[in-house]
Amino acid sequence: MAGLIPQDFIDDLIARADIIEVVGRRVQLKKAGREFKACCPFHDEKTPSFTVSPGKGFYHCFGCGAHGTAIGFLMEFDHMSFVEAIESLAGSMGVDVPRSESDKPARRYDELFSLLDTISRHFQDCLKDSPTAVEYVKNRGIDGSTAKRFGIGYAPDGWSNVLDKFGKSTEAAQRLLATGMIIEKDNGKHYDRFRDRIMFPIRDARGRTIGFGGRTLGDGEPKYLNSPETVLFHKGRELYGLYEARQALRNIEQLVVVEGYMDAVALARHGIDFAVATLGTATTSDHLNRLFQLTENVCFAFDGDRAGRKAAWRALENALPQIREGRQIRFMFLPEGHDPDSFVNEFGTDAFLKALDEGLALSEFLIKELAGQVDMSTVDGRARLAELARPLVHRIPQGVYRELLVESLAEAVGLTAAKLEKMLSSDKHSGPSAHAGGALARSRPRKSVAGQPSVIRHAITIMLNDPAACLKLDIEKLAGVNRAGVELLRALIETVQAEPNITTAGLLERWRHHEEGRHLGKLVASEVPLDDDFNAAAELNECLDQLETAGRKERISFLIEKQRVNGLSDEEKTELQELLKAA
Ligand code: UTP
Ligand code: MN
Repeated sequence: MAGLIPQDFIDDLIARADIIEVVGRRVQLKKAGREFKACCPFHDEKTPSFTVSPGKGFYHCFGCGAHGTAIGFLMEFDHMSFVEAIESLAGSMGVDVPRSESDKPARRYDELFSLLDTISRHFQDCLKDSPTAVEYVKNRGIDGSTAKRFGIGYAPDGWSNVLDKFGKSTEAAQRLLATGMIIEKDNGKHYDRFRDRIMFPIRDARGRTIGFGGRTLGDGEPKYLNSPETVLFHKGRELYGLYEARQALRNIEQLVVVEGYMDAVALARHGIDFAVATLGTATTSDHLNRLFQLTENVCFAFDGDRAGRKAAWRALENALPQIREGRQIRFMFLPEGHDPDSFVNEFGTDAFLKALDEGLALSEFLIKELAGQVDMSTVDGRARLAELARPLVHRIPQGVYRELLVESLAEAVGLTAAKLEKMLSSDKHSGPSAHAGGALARSRPRKSVAGQPSVIRHAITIMLNDPAACLKLDIEKLAGVNRAGVELLRALIETVQAEPNITTAGLLERWRHHEEGRHLGKLVASEVPLDDDFNAAAELNECLDQLETAGRKERISFLIEKQRVNGLSDEEKTELQELLKAA
């Protein structure tokens, strides 16, 4: 939906927004030199490590790693969507978000939301009219008030119930198609997606229906049919039951993540109204971000079988980068053959809460799983465990939690924590973090051990921190360079040269929706020398020179090798001579 708001408006908004005011209205800031400090609003701490830089329009917490622009802050702190954050920021500055081109799509979304709400209410009416469907719901232990709370309904059998009722005009049918409620055949005709199914409306954080899950009443296949991905519905982001949980609870102390619609509903029926379900997908980092915006305490509930353990492991892997001090991630396992729905129906609320209580902390689960894969009675087996843990440990942000995990691991393998830490960090792929420090700016940027583009990384870090330093750079120097990150560096420099007034925050917002831009925020946060004798423009120029030289060398070796193997064309011969002359 980002495309709806013109980019230059966002640039301008970000350039004019006062991040100190935006953050300061919500968190008490204290001036410290050129920056402002506070105790971090995103994690518990006693000494302030949350820093806001008015110059860069950027905040960063050295404790938990949270960072972003004024827009990002509103999204995190006030749980707003991207568009909502822009609207709020614009509103507080007294400007209107331009609606010229975006007017139509925005209104169209509203129409789609209200269409789905109407259909959802229709399905609820149909449930009341179908004794078979009511019977099914009752048999599954769902009472009337729970059904109502979750808006559970029924889509009667038939190929065109929804189509006939809600798709009379061509435009209406188009809207149904856009929401995934009907399917188009090759001959252009339409039919209902959901037929003879119990319907679970999936709602977004504001309670608007964005899609449905539909279950067969018998053993038809597939058991569950979900709405397809649409403009409103993104499976990997949504959590079923989150809206209902937020409605039910004033304070969300913890959230339990389950696998199925019926699990979330059955738990709510039994008074456990803090369960949310992923929609037939693995837990994604988007899910985790969402969960941790609401609570510090997340527990995954999985079936006790092999599939459940596998799903739990995947959730663990995705959760590692999200670990922060203060956050609790736990795993509970149900007895073989049970899911939360069947378990709570058979054994009741207290038994479920007890099983929840007995869940394993992430570190315990991690060690237990790995220990199961090796022979812990031998030295070799224990060394192997450390080996298996290594890539996992490296995905956890540096900090207290990681240290504690290393300690537990050390205990498990019978080593001192210091020795294990050394083992773990002797990794050949120890990651680029070692290259981000300010010390690097003093020495010449080196090539990293694993051939990482550390010069490029360094250049990006500098230019992000001081965009104006790019204005005079000769981007042609990058022409022959052929390594990871160079396209990003080039695009960043080109952006600044085209928009000389763009700020650090403006650049970050430009790349918000790009895969490769994900790490830019971390680079801004990494230290760059701020003392007066640091000349960012000169340093950047130096980086480009190095890259140019390296590019030239690579080209020379390529041409020489080609000459040896295949021979060179006349053009290539001239090129090689020129290159050798310049080198
Ligand atoms: P399960 O197969 O574990 O079903 O799927 P369940 O939740 O126990 O369902 P009941 O109790 O038999 O009604 C778990 C989740 O995986 C997704 C659904 O989101 C479901 O809730 N799923 C499952 C599908 O999307 N399609 C399917 O065919 C099956
Ligand atoms: Mn089930």
